[in-house]
Amino acid sequence: MTGAAEQQRINGITVEELSVIFRLPEGDVCAVDSVSTHFPEGKITGLIGESGCGKSVLGLALLGLLPPYASVAGEMYLDGSPLTPETARKRLGTEIGLIPQSPSDSLNPARTVSAQLQEALLPLKLGRKQRMMKARELLSAFGFPEPERILRAYPHELSGGMQQRVLCAAGAACSPRWILADEPTKGLDRDLRSQVRETLLSLREHGVKSMLVITHDLPLARSLCDTMAVMYAGQVLELGSGILEKPLHPYTRSFLAALPENGFQSMPGVAPKAGERLPGCPFAPRCPIAVPRCHQERPPACSPEPGKTVRCFQYV
Ligand SMILES: Nc1ncnc2c1ncn2[C@@H]1O[C@H](COP(=O)(O)OP(=O)(O)O)[C@@H](O)[C@H]1O
Ligand SMILES: [Mg+2]
Repeated sequence: MTGAAEQQRINGITVEELSVIFRLPEGDVCAVDSVSTHFPEGKITGLIGESGCGKSVLGLALLGLLPPYASVAGEMYLDGSPLTPETARKRLGTEIGLIPQSPSDSLNPARTVSAQLQEALLPLKLGRKQRMMKARELLSAFGFPEPERILRAYPHELSGGMQQRVLCAAGAACSPRWILADEPTKGLDRDLRSQVRETLLSLREHGVKSMLVITHDLPLARSLCDTMAVMYAGQVLELGSGILEKPLHPYTRSFLAALPENGFQSMPGVAPKAGERLPGCPFAPRCPIAVPRCHQERPPACSPEPGKTVRCFQYV
């Protein structure tokens, strides 16, 4: 690898052979299955894939926020230094900010916006007065013309879009270099989705240069993300730029063909059940071009085009 390529690999979030298994009374659920991937610094990466494929669990692993009964194997790095659950939690807010899924579940209904923003500002160790000032500044920066009124408000007094902007302000409160946003447009109508997109883009003006955006919303991903990672059954099957325009993995092709704008061409078969770990490619049972090898061995990461990584034997 050249020096520049090596540096590019170091700068950002790197995941090596990461697995997350939930040990449940009814059996193990492997939510993330030997994922090796890199989310580059300075870019907005979209993490896409069907519901239940492990996107949120991967995000929570990076933040050290998995429940204690999750067993985690493999390694994670931020700019080359190891992210363990302990170091990740120390960096939460200050280096990696979180915009969690679902504002209505993430904001505390019993506490004012002021209390919740001030809590997000705690790592900065400011005095009370300075913290209040910073909270006001944050709300103005995130498009609230009357920050005083919003600070006094409880979440239920705000619209869904306003709640989402408060969460963005809280995630960006300590000026992290990274933001991880989990389904930031889920359940929002079209106008609010476009507001969220603008708010996420405005994070860049607030010094957040790198983002990982977990989303179902492909128009959002298309207009916001520089690069994308496609997950299926706990694995990242395709990674790179231009994925929506030119998908290379048969799963990504089927996933895109099943979208309403592409005529709902449904994918045959069903995704592996949670906990089911196939020896080969997880998409092989549904893949129109699978060969016997696909059922037996995991395809290696291939790079059929510069800047793209695909796990499929057709490119080996
Ligand atoms: N806290 C948990 N305990 C047990 N299983 C979980 C937990 N969180 C997620 N899972 C399981 O892990 C798998 C991946 O979930 P998740 O990452 O939330 O999917 P998504 O891609 O929709 O974000 C699913 O099968 C889900 O049921
Ligand atoms: Mg999720």
